[in-house]
Amino acid sequence: MCGIIGYVGPQGTDVTSILLDGLGKLEYRGYDSAGIAVLTSTGHLELHRRAGKIANLVATIADGAYPHPGPLGIGHTRWATHGRPNDENAHPHPDCTGLLTVVHNGIIENYAELRQEMEDIGHIFRSETDTEVLAHLIEHTYFGEAQHDLTLAVRMALKRVTGSYAIAVVSGEHPDELVGARLNGPLIVGLGEHEQFLASDIPAILKHTRQIIILDEGEIATLRPDSVSIITLDGTRVERDPILIDWDAEAAEKNGYPHFVLKEIFEQPEALRRSLLGRVSNGHLYLPELAQMQQNGLLDNIQRIVIVACGTSYHTGMIAKYVIDQWARIPVEAITAAEFRYSDPILDSGTLCIAITQSGETADTLVGIRQARERGAPVIAITNVVSSAITRLSDAVLYLQAGPEIGVVATKTFVSSVNVLYMLGLYLGRMRGRIKVDQLQEMLAALERLPNQIQHILDRASGPHDTIEKLAQEFSKVSSIMFIGRGVGFPTALEGALKLKEISYIHAEGFPAGELKHGSIALLDSETPLIGIATSSHVYEKVVSNIQEVRARDARVLVVATEGDEKIRKHADDIFYVPDTLEAFSPLLATIPLQLFAYHVAVARGCNVDQPRNLAKSVTVE
Ligand code: F6R
Repeated sequence: MCGIIGYVGPQGTDVTSILLDGLGKLEYRGYDSAGIAVLTSTGHLELHRRAGKIANLVATIADGAYPHPGPLGIGHTRWATHGRPNDENAHPHPDCTGLLTVVHNGIIENYAELRQEMEDIGHIFRSETDTEVLAHLIEHTYFGEAQHDLTLAVRMALKRVTGSYAIAVVSGEHPDELVGARLNGPLIVGLGEHEQFLASDIPAILKHTRQIIILDEGEIATLRPDSVSIITLDGTRVERDPILIDWDAEAAEKNGYPHFVLKEIFEQPEALRRSLLGRVSNGHLYLPELAQMQQNGLLDNIQRIVIVACGTSYHTGMIAKYVIDQWARIPVEAITAAEFRYSDPILDSGTLCIAITQSGETADTLVGIRQARERGAPVIAITNVVSSAITRLSDAVLYLQAGPEIGVVATKTFVSSVNVLYMLGLYLGRMRGRIKVDQLQEMLAALERLPNQIQHILDRASGPHDTIEKLAQEFSKVSSIMFIGRGVGFPTALEGALKLKEISYIHAEGFPAGELKHGSIALLDSETPLIGIATSSHVYEKVVSNIQEVRARDARVLVVATEGDEKIRKHADDIFYVPDTLEAFSPLLATIPLQLFAYHVAVARGCNVDQPRNLAKSVTVE
């Protein structure tokens, strides 16, 4: 939700290019409007803001309004919360004097009362945003008690604020100073040679530096060309070593693929291999990340597991529910985070909470997990983003190690999350003595085959006999598609439907196959096709019966089936075959053709696959 970037360096730098390039890398976070503020060498803070995508802003600037080079600037790409996505509500937001300017990601919850207070003392607001209140609050402290000390002014202003924020602030009076702060919103500092960067996420500045400092909750950073200092909201100085990012800018580029989503689908074998790295080897399973929890006895008394997640991550949790129930014989419940937090959940030290969030910053999940901790539940987080907010709320963190995912919809982080959950399930099963050594070895061997099996699906999809793209073109004209599955095939169906609706805007719904006849079958007719997940499983015959019921209603049926299953040909109009694996692992293979199908349907319909309408990569508002 919203991307922010900031730069401070030598006079004469082409700050505009640095900001616009960085914003391009952050556009996955929101694309309702974009803007930059640049302090030029003439000492003037130039502001450019446009509704719509960053391309609109770039076009405006290219039309003759290119700011002069300068030492300092901030930029923003917006996912609208308070106020429509128009030019006035676009960030950066100036104060009344035009000397101070702010960009913000998050929500100021008490903005209405603060706005009233500021208006009462004469401040003039020009937008409908909650962010503008920050500009006026900082103005108030800057010209008042803080006496033109920008860091102090920001600190004093933030003490009045409740909600979430990552902000960058500049003042025309301080050409060598960029101030950033965060609370429940991501913000990193990039260390350069005589220049420093602020950004919501690493790809925005990776071209310039791989030395990163990740700011912690409630910290304020003051960046100058040759120094960075960090304090907490109460003014305590913080020392923090930078970390070295071990992936380069190329990992965050399209590398010849037409879209990030397609590139990331094709990166899935590698992403899976990376998630197995150091965890599965020679028939053994290692999760060293859990050692501390085990030493502290936090896993000894687990009576129940609650998985908390949203969207695609919730689907991974649903798959985990099926397998962990079976492998560890612990009752598992998967619940969407937004429901969990208002359900007054029954939690204690005997309930293990597993939070799944690839971004590590989904507000619903964070709030839910905070509540779980307050009630004494141990927490394991599964995330792709190092040091993200969820990691600070957890007793242990299992990283996906999937590399950056830029496409707004989750693809490779889905398979990596499921894979990590499989390993966690096997670990718990072993720990409780429910899985024997030879069973574990058999399952680990199957797990290790999955990257090559996914590669096989991808290779076939790229070859001359591919049917996915051709069928996608035919299906691109329908207005509604139903998905069904049973057991682990049910969350697979939900994920297939979610991918399709997110990027192609075709109405799609997933159902447990046996549930269809209890109502939703009324939706089916010759115009409404159905996709059935009918890979090998103990409920295969049942799924086939449900597919027959559908065909009897004239609906066209496309089935995802296991290679070698010839019988299914009688029941399906079209088939996507996937390699054979253990039933528990089948979602990882069945999902791949569904992702490719959704991708090709979206392309055939001319949709923006990487940046679907109304969506943002990380949802940092509730
Ligand atoms: C779907 C998608 C979303 C996310 C959801 C949770 O393609 O990307 O449904 O899965 O917003 O995001 P994280 O995993 O970052 O908490």
